[in-house]
Amino acid sequence: MKAAAFEGWKQQAQAAVEAALQAWVPGAAPAGLGEAMRYGVLDGGKRVRPLLVLAAARATGGDELAAMRPAVAVELIHAYSLIHDDMPCMDNDVLRRGKPTVHVRFGQAQAMLAGDAMHTLAFELLTAPPGHEADFELSPRLSALLCALLARAAGHAGMAGGQAIDLASVGKALSHAQLRDMHRRKTGALLQASVMMGAACGQADARAWRALGEYGDAIGLAFQIVDDILDATQESATLGKTAGKDLDCNKPTYVTVLGLDAARRQADELHAQAQAALARSGLSDVSTLARLAERIVERES
Ligand code: IPE
Ligand code: IPE
Ligand code: MG
Ligand code: MG
Ligand code: MG
Repeated sequence: MKAAAFEGWKQQAQAAVEAALQAWVPGAAPAGLGEAMRYGVLDGGKRVRPLLVLAAARATGGDELAAMRPAVAVELIHAYSLIHDDMPCMDNDVLRRGKPTVHVRFGQAQAMLAGDAMHTLAFELLTAPPGHEADFELSPRLSALLCALLARAAGHAGMAGGQAIDLASVGKALSHAQLRDMHRRKTGALLQASVMMGAACGQADARAWRALGEYGDAIGLAFQIVDDILDATQESATLGKTAGKDLDCNKPTYVTVLGLDAARRQADELHAQAQAALARSGLSDVSTLARLAERIVERES
């Protein structure tokens, strides 16, 4: 896929995700909860996880309409994890996606509840009957598989477990293996699940399924390594979140444990592994996934 064609696909896919989030995240939830939820997930964010769902569905011949519910569901889980990650009991951050964080704007209790409600809304979207004619009805089997993939990646074995390790590691000297394990859980698992949920919407044979799992694992870890690098090298204005936060909070990162150059080399190595996995998937058009991998390691915000 040429760069311009990829850009066109990406813009159209991002617009479709925005429209679906607008439609599915309820402003009318009581006592200001809806406002806090919408503030936390609309208007901002690169939407990398939904793009991975849609691209993996496309690569496996799946319907992009069918993939929209898992695309929105994973973004809701991600956005909830950011709301909680920013709270004073975790990273204590005041800036996210170029705006004051949810707890700064709405208070800690509402931020906690907005995250809770977004977490459950994600699974409601994967199981509820279609809301209108153009919506896509997920089969019970697909619905159950999507729930299992997302739940596993978000819970103790994935994001929540990784966040627990992150908090327990403040001020500690982790080995490279421990750091890699933490990053794969706290960030990698959800990115890998995005790819697998997209593939579940298409037709992936065992070989393609395995290769996409390896691709997702590699780009998932690379994503957090690049996040560590950007935290140490970019400005807050570029990131839309507070730069230099990891050093400030005494968090072990790829930059503090391996150094900037070695961290960059790791990201490049993982990028090569991701592209090699795509090449052995047996799928005929993996170009969108290939471009996304490139963006993930080359991004500057
Ligand atoms: C930031 O994720 C938090 C991590 C898991 C590293 P993103 O960089 O995808 O944040 P948004 O969604 O674009 O705001
Ligand atoms: C966040 O890692 C991972 C999550 C599961 C939210 P970070 O704490 O590094 O994310 P940022 O840098 O605040 O976005
Ligand atoms: Mg954190
Ligand atoms: Mg943080
Ligand atoms: Mg970070």
